[in-house]
Amino acid sequence: MLIKSSQMLEQDALSKEVTSRDIFQNRRALLKGLTGTGLSYGAVGSLGWMSALGSLSSNSIAQSTQSASTVGSKLAPLLGSHSSVSGAYVMEKPTSVGDASSYNNYYEFGTDKGDPVKNAHTLKTTPWSVQIEGLVKKPMKISLEDLLKLRPMEDRIYRMRCVEGWSMVIPWVGYSFSDLVSKVEPLGSAKFVEFVSLADPKTMPFVGSSILDWPYTEGLRLDEAMHPLTLLTFGMYGEVLPNQSGAPVRLVVPWKYGFKSAKSIVKIRFVEKMPSTAWNKAAANEYGFYSNVNPGVDHPRWSQATERRIGEDGLFAKKRKTLMFNGYESQVGQLYAGMDLQKNF
Ligand code: MTE
Repeated sequence: MLIKSSQMLEQDALSKEVTSRDIFQNRRALLKGLTGTGLSYGAVGSLGWMSALGSLSSNSIAQSTQSASTVGSKLAPLLGSHSSVSGAYVMEKPTSVGDASSYNNYYEFGTDKGDPVKNAHTLKTTPWSVQIEGLVKKPMKISLEDLLKLRPMEDRIYRMRCVEGWSMVIPWVGYSFSDLVSKVEPLGSAKFVEFVSLADPKTMPFVGSSILDWPYTEGLRLDEAMHPLTLLTFGMYGEVLPNQSGAPVRLVVPWKYGFKSAKSIVKIRFVEKMPSTAWNKAAANEYGFYSNVNPGVDHPRWSQATERRIGEDGLFAKKRKTLMFNGYESQVGQLYAGMDLQKNF
């Protein structure tokens, strides 16, 4: 990835808007109050909950996301119920919504951290559907509306560690990707899952540039994809995803470097062989297929032992120690039992 000097990064990261966890939770409480039914979103389903609000419908989700490269508080609400998945909630202060939605990597819209929020308003998220194909019993093209209704939304608060050496804590809304997988019924021969992002040169100014081989693709082993922490994500901070964060649907894989979490997904393919991925094609010696967060395996050009938490960038702010599997070792460590993680980086 394109790496800036630490001084430039610090300047980039100066928070423009601070939304603390308290404010975020107050917003949730307010939304709960509006429905008069408590946090019933998960039980009723997204569209039911939206209609309960009266002014919101699936259309308004789509409309909001269409022009949604805004920073915080302007998008359709999307709330999830409490998740019982182990590791679903990191007990650390969430990054401000301002930082999480203005300091982004979304190379289709530019390579500077501030480019996606500036440029992604052109992303057209309606209509949207995801093609699911390859080694499955039930290939399908599923609309965003049907995806939203497929399972009750859940809250997750995950650490996010970028391979570049910075991290955030983000409250996401979605459901385990495995819920979608069980709907399409993979064949026994399916060993990997490939995720393909939208690549539309008309709306994405950097598609066609030589930075990456477009479309942006990523991949997981099937058992990694089936892990309950792997989240099919539709929202963050209690709202639908803003465009720059990968609207309308992205993946979040919290124990891997952030680039494994493809944004604005249009295709999911079940395959037998390890798929090639955009960053691995660009620099195989730097970005391995697994890319599990690992403080013991340095990037060829920098150490991965520590990280800079966005929002803690003061002059005297200490770097944090990077945790094995980003702190999710007890949940995912067994997926890699017996593997040489120096080789399979
Ligand atoms: N997905 C697509 N389609 N294009 C991208 O450039 N960047 C990746 C990942 N998913 C990227 C992408 C990288 S490098 C990171 S760190 C995360 O998205 C950043 O997610 P965020 O901007 O929501 O923090």
